[in-house]
Amino acid sequence: MIPDTHRLDAEIRLRPTVPSDAASLAVSLARSRAYMQPWEPIRPDAFYTEEGQRERLVALFGDRDAGRAAPWVLADEEDRAVGGFNLSGIVLGPLRSGTLGYWVDVEYAGRGLATAAVRLICEMARDGLGLHRIEAGTVIENAASQRVLAKCGFEEYGTAPQFLYINGRWRDHRLFQRILHDGPPKDLPTAAEG
Ligand SMILES: CC(C)(COP(=O)(O)OP(=O)(O)OC[C@H]1O[C@@H](n2cnc3c(N)ncnc32)[C@H](O)[C@@H]1OP(=O)(O)O)[C@@H](O)C(=O)NCCC(=O)NCCS
Repeated sequence: MIPDTHRLDAEIRLRPTVPSDAASLAVSLARSRAYMQPWEPIRPDAFYTEEGQRERLVALFGDRDAGRAAPWVLADEEDRAVGGFNLSGIVLGPLRSGTLGYWVDVEYAGRGLATAAVRLICEMARDGLGLHRIEAGTVIENAASQRVLAKCGFEEYGTAPQFLYINGRWRDHRLFQRILHDGPPKDLPTAAEG
């Protein structure tokens, strides 16, 4: 059984996202808006409100309950969300993969939190979700995110031209993946019958 909550340092834990995170997510995202702007889609002002985050979480929990997403937050000592990590687009069968996205509050960046969280999420994706692979894409110039992925064992496998509409432009992305294990999927036959 994988525990839900993981201490990353003296102050911060990684834990699953819950509905009551909407208020602190809005505060943290609003505080970090300019910091994140070069690497994110342009969001409407409503995104930075508690109501906007509540609506986003309803959609996210729908995906989680359907097995398509696994969302976590960084939580401070008061249990306020100060970062978000999400595995989305989870597909099982012979692919068993998900796409990882993340952000860290501007006031908590640069102290190893993303690296620690991504490492843990890789373990949970392998041992808890049974995934074989995680992928992530970054804007070409996002050196901090690329550094996090490299420290967590991701390998670059290509470049996707005009991959995502980021900060008002279609941006080329570097694509990374980490293979989590070499074993067969637990719920598929490993050899043809008969
Ligand atoms: C990317 C992000 C999540 C990293 O979070 P973090 O907690 O600061 O990451 P860590 O502290 O674990 O590691 C950051 C690494 O990048 C390095 N780094 C930071 N800025 C850098 C830059 N401009 N150029 C090169 N390396 C940089 C740090 O030195 C550190 O590497 P090190 O441990 O070898 O010194 C955070 O910067 C963020 O939220 N950015 C905005 C949103 C975003 O870009 N999300 C990812 C989209 S793909």
